[in-house]
Amino acid sequence: MNACIVGYGAIGPVHANAINQVDNASLYAVCDIDNERANKCADEYHCKVYHSFDEMLQDSDIDVVHICTPHYLHKEMALRALKAGKDVVLEKPVAISRADMDELVEFVNSKENKNKLCVMLQNRRNICIEKLKEIILNNDVGKLKGLTGSVFWKRDEAYYNQDEWRGKWSTEGGGLLINQTVHMIDMMIYFGGKVMDFKSDINHWYISNIEVEDHAQVLMFFENGARGIFNASNCYVTDEPYILDLLFEKAHYRYADHCLYKIGEKVAEFITSDQSVKVGKSYWGSGHLTVIRSFCDSLAGKDAHYTDINDAYDTMKMVFDIYDNAERRA
Ligand SMILES: NC(=O)c1ccc[n+]([C@@H]2O[C@H](COP(=O)([O-])OP(=O)(O)OC[C@H]3O[C@@H](n4cnc5c(N)ncnc54)[C@H](O)[C@@H]3O)[C@@H](O)[C@H]2O)c1
Repeated sequence: MNACIVGYGAIGPVHANAINQVDNASLYAVCDIDNERANKCADEYHCKVYHSFDEMLQDSDIDVVHICTPHYLHKEMALRALKAGKDVVLEKPVAISRADMDELVEFVNSKENKNKLCVMLQNRRNICIEKLKEIILNNDVGKLKGLTGSVFWKRDEAYYNQDEWRGKWSTEGGGLLINQTVHMIDMMIYFGGKVMDFKSDINHWYISNIEVEDHAQVLMFFENGARGIFNASNCYVTDEPYILDLLFEKAHYRYADHCLYKIGEKVAEFITSDQSVKVGKSYWGSGHLTVIRSFCDSLAGKDAHYTDINDAYDTMKMVFDIYDNAERRA
């Protein structure tokens, strides 16, 4: 499978490193409007360079297009790549608005579409998260009673000054929720299931050069009776690892500091830990490789699961519901 990475900024190199490790995939091309970035990739992986997305789509040797561009380009690039007969790996978020997401979902699920689209929600594939899923499926843990998800990260003015598209409703589609914490919302929904109702509050409290939210709290009422609390901020002094806590009737698990624990009355029992990250930030996790490998296996006709747009729908819906609830959109 010949891959082309579109957008070689912060996350593009993580895709390149992963593609390079997948047996049935090879990094055939890179496409970036920034010469220097595209050339950096070409120098390292000896791949073809494109500066125009349209021109790249005409290359019939490209099978899979990895969309690693700013949020506002996701829906249009994904649609155009699928319509050009390419399979797509789409970085999160799926889109910057509910209407854009629905348009893409409709096309992906239509008869006209002959290709596959994988959404990069790689934290589902972290070792601890996969282990937790396996434990829950194979053990009598009882009903899920409650879950909490916390994300406390540092995103300062310098971070937002890096790129023009960040921190604006029109190009990022939001802030903390749609970008930094979409993975935590995804993990809560992955374990908690459908959200029946919620209360939420989002704020722009601290980071001076942005329009979007940097702090959020959500109380979620899941259809299965569980209650969830999501608490997150981009205003902290460093990037703390995620904390996800799941309380069942008969067992209690905590994912913290990249480790999974079974919580007892007096002690916490260590179960497993995530793989350390070699390329990219530790908080991105090492799931990109697992996701890309599974997707390529699925494209090769093997029985391999990947997160498609329908799997990602409830997570994105939650994000848009919270924004609508806050009535903060421009
Ligand atoms: N899954 C994760 O954990 C994770 C982590 C980081 C970023 N991301 C996502 O990856 C995407 C990119 O984020 P980033 O931090 O790498 O951004 P970035 O700004 O660092 O990189 C984006 C790249 O896209 C290029 N680009 C812009 N317009 C283009 C166009 N029309 N054609 C080709 N290239 C174009 C830019 O030149 C830049 O090199 C975002 O959607 C972000 O949310 C995901």
